[in-house]
Amino acid sequence: MANLKVNIKDVEFKNPVIVTSGVIGYGREYEEFFDLSKLGGLATKGTTLHKRNGNPGKRIVEVPSGLLFSVGLQNPGIDYYIASELPNLLSKGTNILSNIAGNDEAEYCKIVEKLNETDAPIIELNISCPNTSGAPLGTSCEGTERITKIIREMTDKTLIVKLSPNVADIGEIAKAAESSGADAVSLINSIHAMKIDINTRRPFFHNNVGAYSGEAIFPIALRMVWEVANAVNIPILGIGGVTTGEEAIQMIMAGATCVEVGAAIFRNPYAPLQIIDEINAWLDAKGIQDINEIRGVVQPWER
Ligand code: FUM
Repeated sequence: MANLKVNIKDVEFKNPVIVTSGVIGYGREYEEFFDLSKLGGLATKGTTLHKRNGNPGKRIVEVPSGLLFSVGLQNPGIDYYIASELPNLLSKGTNILSNIAGNDEAEYCKIVEKLNETDAPIIELNISCPNTSGAPLGTSCEGTERITKIIREMTDKTLIVKLSPNVADIGEIAKAAESSGADAVSLINSIHAMKIDINTRRPFFHNNVGAYSGEAIFPIALRMVWEVANAVNIPILGIGGVTTGEEAIQMIMAGATCVEVGAAIFRNPYAPLQIIDEINAWLDAKGIQDINEIRGVVQPWER
């Protein structure tokens, strides 16, 4: 069997497959399906300083090859996370990425101050939520730079900055995160999208616009991962519509160190395990001993 271990900074992942933020909350229900220690990691639901009830109205709808959603960061707040969820998560034998989100810089700082008092090893700094009011910090280089620098100065924890696809040039945003001290970047968060109820003549979501996730966004995510891999030297966690081992391998060949799996889990809770098995089978079939050998190997055509 090939080596599937990968590293982000000094954190070792037993395999590159991570469950992405927002899909399984803090993992409790998901444990009914399989032992979480089989995963490379688990990214928790975006957690804010205070409890949030999320967006009013309808929040999720299936669309061709994916889903639209507008949850709006419903979560119980960082104090509850630290007291009631983190200890359980840290006992599961997998890497926990604590995904955090703030309304402004001061909120991010207060959350990180609290996390600094815990053994949480990794922060996934969510500066790209598509479903809250106002433009997230991660939609500009200045905002990305400012918040990454502030948080970097506050913590020695492994810092992954989660990037928005709703920008003109994601490579430039990734560079801003890298130059400000990010240990890695994860991308993409979901893509702004919309649905209209033709009978009521209203947008389906109260926020008017929601976010698109699932299989359909895979080629877009892959393109962005490749662009970011050409722009920065820090590790990349590829996210967006990954459903099969073959797609995970495409992400890795584009330059990703890890792959986060999200919407695929709604159709098939075992998708992350199947993806791990499919990666393994492909590496074995090709006689490749170590997954790290295929990272970033895609050879672009000369143009
Ligand atoms: O709607 C949401 O809660 C989305 C969160 C995110 O993608 O960061």
